[in-house]
Amino acid sequence: MMADERTNEPGRWNAALYDSKHGFVWERGTDLVELLAPQPGERILDLGCGTGHLAARIAATGARVVGLDSSAEMLGEAQRQFPALEFVAGDGRALPFERAFDAVFSNAALHWMSDPESVAQAVAEALRDGGRFVAELGGQGNIEKVVMGVAQGRKAIGAPLDPGFHPWYFPTLGEYASLLETQGLEVLYAVLFERPTKLEDGPAGLGNWFRMFGEPFWRGLSAAKRDELFFIVEQRLRKELFHDGAWHLDYRRLRIVALKSE
Ligand code: BEZ
Repeated sequence: MMADERTNEPGRWNAALYDSKHGFVWERGTDLVELLAPQPGERILDLGCGTGHLAARIAATGARVVGLDSSAEMLGEAQRQFPALEFVAGDGRALPFERAFDAVFSNAALHWMSDPESVAQAVAEALRDGGRFVAELGGQGNIEKVVMGVAQGRKAIGAPLDPGFHPWYFPTLGEYASLLETQGLEVLYAVLFERPTKLEDGPAGLGNWFRMFGEPFWRGLSAAKRDELFFIVEQRLRKELFHDGAWHLDYRRLRIVALKSE
């Protein structure tokens, strides 16, 4: 795998790579929109909206959606594709909203946000009394095989395991439910489930995924070392995660519905 213009650079999201090769992120979130069950006229915040595809699905039901993301690149693409929708830049830990929404929705974004207590507090503040929070994030054990493969790969190439190597928040169900409860959100539904996730592009899928999402795994390495790491990790993971012509990553999802007390 070579470094190229499709690589997701540190601190910047490559919206084109996201949309062209990782459409499964929002496609697999479609039934989360069903769980949200948006109603015409409802005000809904899509927290971590990325390129806006699920915000658009929610808006198609007649709800009024605001998509929020911290990435200028993602928001630019969202606004380009869905010019009629409202998108704003913001930080999930400090949402600029108070009792403004009937629902807060979030798909595959919360595990990227540090300080989950502040995020939960900001979500609770953004909801009206009786409003709902419907979210999916990586749960405990998410991409564990990938993480192990990269840890072993880094060892093999003599790269230290920096603390930032695994920055994601993958809570247990109990931990996340308790966190929401401390913010006055009553958990009505919570489930942790295995969701093996097929990547696009056949044998090239894992390389695409690393370039898109795996930057913390190879941060600080030279391009040559990074390619060496990718090569070793692919070799190690192939037996377990590559079958039927495609990579299938060991995703584990945590889905939750919680209500803000009246
Ligand atoms: C995910 O579970 O969606 C995910 C986790 C870490 C990196 C990329 C994606």
